[in-house]
Amino acid sequence: MTATASAHHTALAEWVDEMAALCRPDAVHWCDGTETEYNALCQKLVDAGTFIRLDPVKRPNSYLARSHPSDVARVEERTYICSANRNDAGPTNNWAPPAEMRATMRQRFDGCMRGRTMYVIPFSMGPIGSPIAKIGVQITDSPYVVVNMRIMTRIGAGVLDALGSDGFFVPCMHSVGAPLAPGQADVAWPCEADIANKYIVHFPESYEIWSYGSGYGGNALLGKKCLALRIASVMARDEGWLAEHMLIMGIESPDGETTYLGAAFPSACGKTNLAMLVPPSSMPGWKVRTVGDDIAWIKKAPDGKLRAINPEAGFFGVAPGTNVKSNPNAMATIAKNTIFTNVALTDDGDVWWEGMTDSPPAHAIDWTGKDWTPASGRLAAHANARFTAPASQCPSIDPAWEDPAGVPITAFVFGGRMAKDMPLVFQAFNWSHGVYLAATMGSEATAAAIGQAAMRRDPFAMLPFCGYNMADYFTHWLNVGRRVHNPPRIFRVNWFRKDEHGKFIWPGFGENMRVLRWIVERMKGRAFAVESPIGWMPRYEDLDWSGLDFPHETFNDLMAVAREAGRIEAHAHEELFDRFFDRLPKEFVFERELLRSRLWRSPDRWELAEEA
Ligand code: OXD
Ligand code: MN
Repeated sequence: MTATASAHHTALAEWVDEMAALCRPDAVHWCDGTETEYNALCQKLVDAGTFIRLDPVKRPNSYLARSHPSDVARVEERTYICSANRNDAGPTNNWAPPAEMRATMRQRFDGCMRGRTMYVIPFSMGPIGSPIAKIGVQITDSPYVVVNMRIMTRIGAGVLDALGSDGFFVPCMHSVGAPLAPGQADVAWPCEADIANKYIVHFPESYEIWSYGSGYGGNALLGKKCLALRIASVMARDEGWLAEHMLIMGIESPDGETTYLGAAFPSACGKTNLAMLVPPSSMPGWKVRTVGDDIAWIKKAPDGKLRAINPEAGFFGVAPGTNVKSNPNAMATIAKNTIFTNVALTDDGDVWWEGMTDSPPAHAIDWTGKDWTPASGRLAAHANARFTAPASQCPSIDPAWEDPAGVPITAFVFGGRMAKDMPLVFQAFNWSHGVYLAATMGSEATAAAIGQAAMRRDPFAMLPFCGYNMADYFTHWLNVGRRVHNPPRIFRVNWFRKDEHGKFIWPGFGENMRVLRWIVERMKGRAFAVESPIGWMPRYEDLDWSGLDFPHETFNDLMAVAREAGRIEAHAHEELFDRFFDRLPKEFVFERELLRSRLWRSPDRWELAEEA
């Protein structure tokens, strides 16, 4: 396409001209989204040394990229929400005055694309034309970003058609921040190496994104975390819907009915594995259908029900730990047409990462491009190495995953990684209790240095992704529940409780289907539960144990609630919420006091056996 391709959308054409004048690229390329364009850009990346073409038989039409070692993950400390009023960004976001940040961005972007091509990527988050979808236009000087965006979103001419002459789009400015002087040779992964010079900036009032200095993942593929979560969460508040860090899955029961749920987990809690779960063979007729693995946009439909779409079109999944046992559907998804970043290259032109096979290859080239053997004492793949693969290639993809109307959501599941105290599963008493449970969610990261688990509160798994004050976000959730008839039921899960020897009590992975079955049957009014101090719980006999030898007493340990731990937890909620000061919804104070009084009435250790 040429620079005149969108001349019929005056505001878009003017913005692109203005940005080209600021960034001064050598050329401007409007992306048409075709396969021919994709292949040509991949070839350009191979020629530049950014991509290595993988073996065409072992991994057809797939590539490996190695990033600069300073550019391997999202940079939360350099991520800003620049609202006019600091309190509108809230205590959990970095903030800078918008005028000041605009000046900084203008300065950074001034001439930043010299020697490079500026690509213009019109993209749709969600099926083009869906009433829930939104259009963005990303300007970038990274061809790596273009080819990843083509997998992760819907890009190109069809999007411009949907935009028409005056449609709304979110402007997304991106540069790797590495201009080339005349004659200067390029490097394989251009970026701004100094983290202090990277910026991931959001202007929530004008729905605008500016990202500078990084070419990696969520820093650079601006449709994902920047648009579909941070900016979309603001739009969702303004327009009365929800933009969430949730997988969407359908669970088909043996009678052929599919129940859809949205599930939020902090990063690194196995969302992709859960979204693609393969049920145990001892549960015939139960199937999992994948709609999305990371983000859900949820809106009230004309029939008053909540419907969700996956705004993405691909998976940007963490590779290490993925294997045919932990996630056979992911392994099948990435068999072809996939971009791998920061994994190891095997001697036969394929990829490898820690946990992919039972035994490692005898030799590989690691993610930094160096020779590697199992004896090297280094990781072959970076811990945050990724695959970018089309969702359509996933064997468990739901037939309705691209339905523009979305899928009906009847339950929300929230889960963190908690070694102690938090039971396997329980159901909130009601919507406002469920919102409280989601808001107080936390996850442990093992701090290897001190051998202790440090807990990070991650309300709704949205801590790094909420584009406004989280207290207002809690209020928004409370309001959504009031506006829908028969709102989804809310559940908390924890796959990660450990015994006194530090071993996981619950086997996880496919066995999580037993918990999901109980959740689905609760919603259909077919499963029993007892009241515990923290919510409704299944008894041992309420779960399907076919084919799994899981002792009754172990289950009771997994579900026990300790009064003292609960009291400490309730106190920690108070500390968390104090940060939000007067914006905190009053309902949360009531919920905390109700929790305290239920715990106060309970025995030191509340066990299912005693009640049932
Ligand atoms: C992700 C994340 O990459 O949550 O999805 O960090
Ligand atoms: Mn995520």
